[in-house]
Amino acid sequence: MKAILIREGQLVWDDTPTPEPQEGEVLLKVRATAVNRADLSQRSGRYPPPPGASEILGLECSGVIQKLGPGVTDREIGQEVCALLAGGGYAEYVAVPASHTLTPPAGMGLETAAGVVEVFATAWLNLRLEGELKEGERVLVHAGASGVGTACIQLCKAWGNPIFVTVGSQSKRDYCEALGASASANRHQGPWEEAVKGWGGADVILDPVGGAYLESNVNLLRPRGRLVNIGLMGGAQGTLPMGVMMVKRLTLRGSVLRSRSIEEKNLVIDGLRREVWPLFESGQLKPIIHQTFAIQEAEQAHQLVGINDNIGKVLLRV
Ligand SMILES: NC(=O)c1ccc[n+]([C@@H]2O[C@H](COP(=O)([O-])OP(=O)(O)OC[C@H]3O[C@@H](n4cnc5c(N)ncnc54)[C@H](OP(=O)(O)O)[C@@H]3O)[C@@H](O)[C@H]2O)c1
Repeated sequence: MKAILIREGQLVWDDTPTPEPQEGEVLLKVRATAVNRADLSQRSGRYPPPPGASEILGLECSGVIQKLGPGVTDREIGQEVCALLAGGGYAEYVAVPASHTLTPPAGMGLETAAGVVEVFATAWLNLRLEGELKEGERVLVHAGASGVGTACIQLCKAWGNPIFVTVGSQSKRDYCEALGASASANRHQGPWEEAVKGWGGADVILDPVGGAYLESNVNLLRPRGRLVNIGLMGGAQGTLPMGVMMVKRLTLRGSVLRSRSIEEKNLVIDGLRREVWPLFESGQLKPIIHQTFAIQEAEQAHQLVGINDNIGKVLLRV
């Protein structure tokens, strides 16, 4: 098969062995995959795949089941699915645990479905399970216009939780507020901390920035608040005001999706099927697709994401 391979730092569409589905897996003929920020980190050598995962980029895809591995009885050849991957999506074929595939929400095209699994899984997992978000609680999400951020905005709106987002431009602020954010700030224009404080602080913060925002995040949490750290775009070292953490009885949590066990990911997939897919089907959620490239143009797609120009997802059509 053909896949995007990394050769001397460049993304090259070239020949590589077709994977064989193992026990409990299915082989998908990929229709589309999507660019995630993690792909840029993996490409630069800062985010190696977990043990046993494909070295090929790509954490989600949509496609058609081509072959069933041993023990798979609840999927059919020819079935159209989208999937959460530990890697391997930038390819013509990928093997994935059958339990990590989902029929796309009714009414969603197969190509588009390539861009919803990873970000809605991340948003649902970290708001609902890790952040323990409850009715009426206030949420702060950084990188609000990212794939994950736009998923969080829509989920919070659907659940009735007020959400403040930080973003990098006025046009992203406008977009996020139209999508459902209650308020926003441009991280390049003045202290966003003051704006969040004036808004009332947050019970749950979803933060992909890390070290640079740690102190502000802790200061902005309300009593018994939860900070869920999901990324390190602003560095891995920060200042933790421990007195504030103690007095407000805060919880600080780190969370990754990719390296979780098959069973842990099954819980997330079940959560999507149960709580998120119905919201797509009722029209309360929509996929946010910024642009679609041919897979052979993966380099241009990475450049677009690398300069922070996208709002929502960038897809790669295979
Ligand atoms: N832990 C997990 O399981 C998990 C899973 C999925 C994603 N993530 C993380 O979630 C984040 C979003 O992922 P994505 O694929 O949705 O991203 P994305 O669509 O590529 O968007 C990332 C956005 O982050 C903002 N940004 C970039 N550098 C920044 C910095 N130094 N400080 C503050 N903001 C910065 C930029 O928006 P502005 O210019 O508008 O600020 C950029 O467009 C990434 O950090 C990713 O690694 C974590």
